[in-house]
Amino acid sequence: MDGAITTDTPKNRMQRILGQDGYEQLFRPIEEASGLPNAAYWSEDWFEMEQELIFRRSWVFAGARAEIAEPGSTKPLVIGGVPIFLVHGQDGVIRGFQNVCRHRGMQLISEPCRKATLTCPYHMWSYGLDGKLRARPHFQGPNQADTFKDGGGEKLDLIAVRVEEFFGCLFVNISGTADPLEVWMAPVLEQLSEYDLSAIRWAGKLDFDVESNWKLVYENYMEGYHVFALHPRLLKFAPMDVRWSGEWRGNTFINGYRFPKMEQGRGQGLPHYPGLSDEDSMRGQWFLTMPHFAVEIFPDQFTVLVAYPEAPDRCREELHVFLIGDDAATGEQYAAERNEVIQMWDDLNKEDISILKGMQQGRRCTGYDGGRLSPHWEAPTLGFARKVVEMMS
Ligand code: FES
Ligand SMILES: [Fe+2]
Repeated sequence: MDGAITTDTPKNRMQRILGQDGYEQLFRPIEEASGLPNAAYWSEDWFEMEQELIFRRSWVFAGARAEIAEPGSTKPLVIGGVPIFLVHGQDGVIRGFQNVCRHRGMQLISEPCRKATLTCPYHMWSYGLDGKLRARPHFQGPNQADTFKDGGGEKLDLIAVRVEEFFGCLFVNISGTADPLEVWMAPVLEQLSEYDLSAIRWAGKLDFDVESNWKLVYENYMEGYHVFALHPRLLKFAPMDVRWSGEWRGNTFINGYRFPKMEQGRGQGLPHYPGLSDEDSMRGQWFLTMPHFAVEIFPDQFTVLVAYPEAPDRCREELHVFLIGDDAATGEQYAAERNEVIQMWDDLNKEDISILKGMQQGRRCTGYDGGRLSPHWEAPTLGFARKVVEMMS
């Protein structure tokens, strides 16, 4: 068309990747709807859009403060495709920076470690833990260093990333434009108003490499439909007839049940949230705050499951277990019970991971169109697909 200006909106791009019908099927009533088409799980273009429009713009869980408990401790990770690191400052403040030297773009931190200064391995420019440039050896010629009293300014200091904390959980927002974290987390806070979250303490984490798209992790996480088939121990603890589909409230999916009897790993043998009612002592709850902050609550714990997209067909999971009070989280007297909780999560998550890999492969089949969903159990699963698309619009 002569002289016409075409604007390539995210919506146009999505429709091009999914096909017009593949896009529209998400918004039909659940009886006629399908889930996201295969391209949303394999396409590099789609993946890049998610990284840019979802993971860089949202609050993303980056770890526990306890992982970097000492001044100088660092944790590198990649969020929305952007390498960053967290560092515990001499002043006790946790800061985040893009993981790159301002000179020639070398990665600064390659693994979790403890440092007094952040020195680049390439030409040894050094930065304080506050990200300010301190010195550039030999920069002006042999033995002629540049030194800086108060940093090098905008072009030379490390590129800061926004960090906020939620009861010992660290979140980052790469774009710097997300609503304040407490707004983002409001639905969870409201639902957990009876729980004293200030009592949670980090007890450790598990890492998993998963051969599936990150969305499959959460689509699986949300629905209790598969429990009878996949999780014999969990089924015994919370049978199908105590379960329901859950629902979305704003950016957060909420589900839960009352279980008939506590067991080791879920409620028995470890301290409970202080002042928890008898009612809540027999309750399990789980949440997903978009895009990836999944948390499971039992009377004795706060367990976080987060997936970091690495490629369309690959993600990395971290599962962080928080228990109630210092003794439960780190004390010798609770070592056996603590290990029981962590083992329980390890077993359960591995039961899911084998399925995730198979679902990723199934989405190579050209005849699969996103599937038919159970109106009883899977309306929230469809809701998740819609949220993904909404966030990308
Ligand atoms: S790239 Fe870091 S000092 Fe040269
Ligand atoms: Fe599962």
